[in-house]
Amino acid sequence: MTRHFLVDTDLTQAEQAEVLDLADALKKDRWKYQPYAGEGSGRQTVAVIFDKTSTRTRISFAAGISDLGGVPLIIGAGESQLGHKESISDTAKVMERMVSTIVWRTYAQSGLEEMAANSSVPVINALSDDYHPCQLLADLMTIREHKGTLAGLTLTYLGDCANNMANSYLLAGVTAGMHVRVAGPVGYLPDPAIVDAAAARAEETGGSVMITTDAAEALASADVVATDTWVSMGQEDEKAARQELFRDYAVDSAAMAQAAQDAVVLHCLPAYRGYEISADVIDGPQSVVWEEAENRLHAQKALMVWLMARSGLTGIPEEA
Ligand code: CP
Ligand code: NVA
Repeated sequence: MTRHFLVDTDLTQAEQAEVLDLADALKKDRWKYQPYAGEGSGRQTVAVIFDKTSTRTRISFAAGISDLGGVPLIIGAGESQLGHKESISDTAKVMERMVSTIVWRTYAQSGLEEMAANSSVPVINALSDDYHPCQLLADLMTIREHKGTLAGLTLTYLGDCANNMANSYLLAGVTAGMHVRVAGPVGYLPDPAIVDAAAARAEETGGSVMITTDAAEALASADVVATDTWVSMGQEDEKAARQELFRDYAVDSAAMAQAAQDAVVLHCLPAYRGYEISADVIDGPQSVVWEEAENRLHAQKALMVWLMARSGLTGIPEEA
């Protein structure tokens, strides 16, 4: 059965740990696995499609696919027939015959689901309106490097709790057995369906979920503090209103004083200093954002190796 990665909960707790172990191994030995080379999958090309702009995701996938012996085929918005002249399902049926994996940054989660339903090669969500699961693999890898473990830690996310990063922090965090707290203003809290899914996964892993409008309640003794832009891609028209709306949920030195003394700070980037995070915090000693950005490379390579193996397209790596 082909394995896809469309949402954080597509991996169980044990599978998520396998991917993170593989990521650690690939960080130590960049060339350890070559699933896309020579006798690997038999198809060297990996399609990477962007309907929205990107720096980290684009570069980390391009570099990572090369490291894995593959050739990245980057397709920018409007450069293919996809979405305007041709359906998603027809596009998938063409691509699955030519490429090893399909990576797609897009708007609607339903588009990714349609692509996956019509593809015999793995489909990876490189960010949708609803989730950013590849980012969370990098974030969890970074937390584990600093804290030695994930299960039992408290992760607090402040700001726009109705966006893709908040949803992925909830789902990936509880999958790892973490206590995930999110705090934002009324009207910008997570969809109840996401909260239910996170609570159900937390039941299995020993994690927990807290949804609140009280930043102080969420921050108390947190081990990890995270935030994201208040203005996600596609919301540019709401910029002024949003910069006002989330003001009480900024990650600044006053917020950090309420977290654990050794708390680390995450931000998926790009960051807007003086809005969701202050310059002294993101550029200060508790920030691990540059390692977090680098870990996109290692975590996504691990994910690609793992999906290829678990889809029966290549051999199983020793860490899995
Ligand atoms: N964090 C992240 O996904 O960055 P890009 O939008 O630059 O890819
Ligand atoms: N929430 C942000 C994440 C960017 C990586 C957005 O969707 O624009």
